Amino acid sequence: MADQTYDYDVLVIGSGPGGYVAAIRAAQLGLKTACAESRETLGGTCLNIGCIPSKALLHASEYYEEAASGTLAKFGVKIGKTELDLGQMMAEKTKAVDELTGGIEYLFKKNKVTWLKGRASFENAHKIKVGDETVTAKSVVIATGSSVMPLPNVEVDNDAGIVVDSTGALALPKVPEHLVLIGGGVIGLELGSVWRRLGAKVTCVEFLDQILPGMDGDVRKEAAKLFKKQGIEFKTGTKVTGVTVKGKKASVTVEPAKGGNAEIIEADAVLVCIGRKPNTDGLKLEAAGLNTTDRGMIEVDDRFETKVDDVYAIGDVTPGLMLAHRAEDEGIAVAENIAGQTGIVNHAIIPSVVYTHPEIAGVGLTEEDAKKAGHEVAIGKFPFMGNSRAKTNRDTDGFVKIVADKDTDRVLGVHIISTLAGTMIAQAATAMEFGSTSEDIAYTCHAHPTHAEAMKEAAMAVRGKPIHI
Ligand code: FAD
Ligand code: NAI
Repeated sequence: MADQTYDYDVLVIGSGPGGYVAAIRAAQLGLKTACAESRETLGGTCLNIGCIPSKALLHASEYYEEAASGTLAKFGVKIGKTELDLGQMMAEKTKAVDELTGGIEYLFKKNKVTWLKGRASFENAHKIKVGDETVTAKSVVIATGSSVMPLPNVEVDNDAGIVVDSTGALALPKVPEHLVLIGGGVIGLELGSVWRRLGAKVTCVEFLDQILPGMDGDVRKEAAKLFKKQGIEFKTGTKVTGVTVKGKKASVTVEPAKGGNAEIIEADAVLVCIGRKPNTDGLKLEAAGLNTTDRGMIEVDDRFETKVDDVYAIGDVTPGLMLAHRAEDEGIAVAENIAGQTGIVNHAIIPSVVYTHPEIAGVGLTEEDAKKAGHEVAIGKFPFMGNSRAKTNRDTDGFVKIVADKDTDRVLGVHIISTLAGTMIAQAATAMEFGSTSEDIAYTCHAHPTHAEAMKEAAMAVRGKPIHI
């Protein structure tokens, strides 16, 4: 099957959720496939220093907070003195990461994907140097992902553990007394939640007037209220202009985003989380005839092909949401396109989840974006206060909000704050993929008692007729 002119039918550069999925699917489709990865383990940012270790710490720290706060007592569960064993918490996180990265290595062997260990750079569009070896491939998929966006005047030193990025914040040696987050986006709120639960005072400095850019306006407001209640202090409309470190302490200089007097915040740890940038350094894209946008991204068409024939790009290195599941879906689609099939990703319906407590999830258009796009909208909102399961579990924070087109009733977007938001959003994505109306959801039978009934009631509320509120 393999084209004898080349060493491989497909060479994937990068083994994150985009790259490893593309490589496995290409091999499943009978293509001779290799994947170049410079890291010691497979799985990219997501498995090694992103989704997986962050969720491991969120899960463990939630247990700790529940036990330490005494809230279980009202359910008749009495616990003695709670102690934190941070070393064990970190060890369990590492174990999960090792199991999952090892799992990808197993899947590569099972599917006969060759792992070429080393950094890849182009010699031409079909000839790539990986470490000391040079290989040729008929098709190349660039899946090199992204890395932390640096902030001018702020030097990150993860080993010192004082001014850190997300990688350092996943492995702080002790709970800081005061943690300052630079950026009120997803990473700040997830990792800020971890350390707050473990005992740190957390201050979040956000440049914009509100946290969680890109999310629905009602969700952003409600989330800020809930995080404040949990004890995170927010300084919105504020920018960081510099950080200095003296001994074990950091001084963070902040000033109003629109200009004004500077203020110094003292901290034991500072997390820089102002976004991520695509990885193209050292790839020698120009040797393949490629360049990047002014934001450093590689542009592709709807088949994920770049302007150079047979060279494709997927995931964080291309414009769009920097999310693991988007990269994975693109990995499947690009492999299918290379194999002559039709691989499509519907970028309008990609869910986003923030794994805090409660979780925050959204898919499709926000109310604001729907209006900007010219829709007259009908909104259905249902609070978990009216959901019997949430009330029983003493877990009533949040709501489901459905944004529908007023004329057609078609669902344009769904936004949820709830302990189960990340799981519930899948139903909304499926409904939207099938072009569902709010009425379709309202007349779908949902099991009782479940949090999912709030989705049905929000859909009923689009027409003004929920039962339980
Ligand atoms: P990556 O996962 O970044 O993988 C790219 C790989 O390419 C890396 O392993 C890199 O070493 C390798 N590489 C780069 N250049 C070369 C080269 N020249 N030669 C060889 N190899 C190379 N997303 C979610 O959807 N859910 C989450 O819960 C979530 N949590 C996150 C938490 C944190 C702390 C962070 C930082 C990110 C999180 N993300 C999450 C985002 C998610 O990790 C990324 O969107 C996803 O990993 C992108 O996948 P990718 O395949 O495009 O690239
Ligand atoms: P982000 O883009 O989510 O948030 C960055 C925030 O920093 C923004 O609110 C921005 O206004 C603010 N900011 C920028 N410059 C600033 C400055 N100088 N001072 C103060 N605030 C400033 O980026 P984040 O949190 O770094 O995450 C990067 C990406 O990683 C996310 O966009 C997401 O794609 C991915 N991710 C996804 C997760 C998930 O799906 N659960 C979890 C973690 C990361």
